Amino acid sequence: MPTKPEATATAVASDSLFDVEELEVHYDLRGGSLARLFGRDTGVVRAVDGVSFQLRRGEVLGLVGESGSGKTTLGRALLGLVRPTSGAVRYHAGQGPVDIATSSNRELRGLRRELQMVFQDPNAALNPSMDIETAVGHPLKIHGIAKGAELRHRVADALERVGLAPAERYMSKYPSDLSGGQKQRAVLARAVILGPELLVADEPISMLDMSVRAKILELMLGLKADLGLTYVYITHDLASAKFFCDRVAIMYLGRIVEIGPTDEIFASPKHPYTKALLAAIPEPDPERMVPRDLPRGEIPDAAKPPMGCHFHPRCPEAVAQCGWESRDLRVLLEEHWTRRDPAAYEREGDLVGSLDKLDTPAKEATLGTGSSAAEVHQLLDRIRGEDPSEPLWSGVEEVVEGPDGVSVRFKAGVDPALRQSDGVEVACIHHPVSVTLEPARGDG
Ligand SMILES: Nc1ncnc2c1ncn2[C@@H]1O[C@H](COP(=O)(O)OP(=O)(O)OP(=O)(O)O)[C@@H](O)[C@H]1O
Ligand SMILES: [Mg+2]
Repeated sequence: MPTKPEATATAVASDSLFDVEELEVHYDLRGGSLARLFGRDTGVVRAVDGVSFQLRRGEVLGLVGESGSGKTTLGRALLGLVRPTSGAVRYHAGQGPVDIATSSNRELRGLRRELQMVFQDPNAALNPSMDIETAVGHPLKIHGIAKGAELRHRVADALERVGLAPAERYMSKYPSDLSGGQKQRAVLARAVILGPELLVADEPISMLDMSVRAKILELMLGLKADLGLTYVYITHDLASAKFFCDRVAIMYLGRIVEIGPTDEIFASPKHPYTKALLAAIPEPDPERMVPRDLPRGEIPDAAKPPMGCHFHPRCPEAVAQCGWESRDLRVLLEEHWTRRDPAAYEREGDLVGSLDKLDTPAKEATLGTGSSAAEVHQLLDRIRGEDPSEPLWSGVEEVVEGPDGVSVRFKAGVDPALRQSDGVEVACIHHPVSVTLEPARGDG
């Protein structure tokens, strides 16, 4: 990627275009055939789970995070393309503030001109049987803004703005006549032809050849400067976010875990998840963006996010207060058994009994039976002795033998909110660095 032009680093206006407050977008799982197939027949997916941020007029804000973290859903909620479950999406329009979250469909239709979205696949965005002039001019036509020579003139102007020049050469072409990069330029021309305020660009370069990606981002920066646009840029690709964004928001399981100036986040990441993502930067395939060095690499199910801090089961910096619970104990036991021989696994598994009851998130987990309680207790002590530094143990309040088995009771956890820390906002118990924490490691 080329170095970031001076203009974008400094041209951040301070007034806000959007104020998003405690936004939640939950998708209902009930009734879905896929959900039933996978036995997830109850509850909701918390695609966006309590997100608050300000989008400043004229900035490029990046939304970065692994697949399923809620980036697209958040982008769609800004445009009113998905109905929030709760919270506010206050858009400071020319005619005064509007809450997109509660606007009527009629009001939203009126805002369509101002709020545009560009997706990753230009092939899906362009009708193959429509020539470029018709496609790019379509928004002007449906809004009854221009027709005839005026329409043609404005389409030509938009095409030249996006580098499809001379425009006459492209107007009569069809999408199949254009390269991927040219198609995305046409899509951008159509997105800006109505003079929008905001463009949400959802992975706009990820399907394009490597050789044209930087050129499309440079074009977008040019359009932004010329037309006074504000961008939300959704990406897996940290290198492009670093080049393109004034600020970035790191998302994990429906939440923003860190947000701040791009330079600050890249120079000094604070959230353990941000650190892991940045450690993954030199991936040959940026689409994959697999964070490095994370214990228990699986991203949890957004329908049943971990208690406390959503990131705690994977967090290399987790401590006693991070939200340890029953499901963490299941993972710990299963990991323990992968290290045991089959006979030992058989014996210990019988002793502990079914782990399925640990799948219901709870601060107390009961294992074994009344008669096996003492032995299960010993087994847990042994497992703990093998790796006393495992942070889960620091989160255990007490282990008690009872008539129904052994109860493992976990300490109350903290679900950290975004807080100011050295120029960024971060949702982690370790920030700002003033709280005294119980040590997680080496405390036996
Ligand atoms: N229409 C829908 N119905 C049900 N669940 C959905 C729907 N759309 C998204 N989800 C779920 O919501 C969560 C967030 O999805 P979203 O597409 O916003 O993530 P993303 O960060 O954009 O992911 P990706 O990087 O793969 O595009 C995921 O768990 C996803 O499965
Ligand atoms: Mg997406």
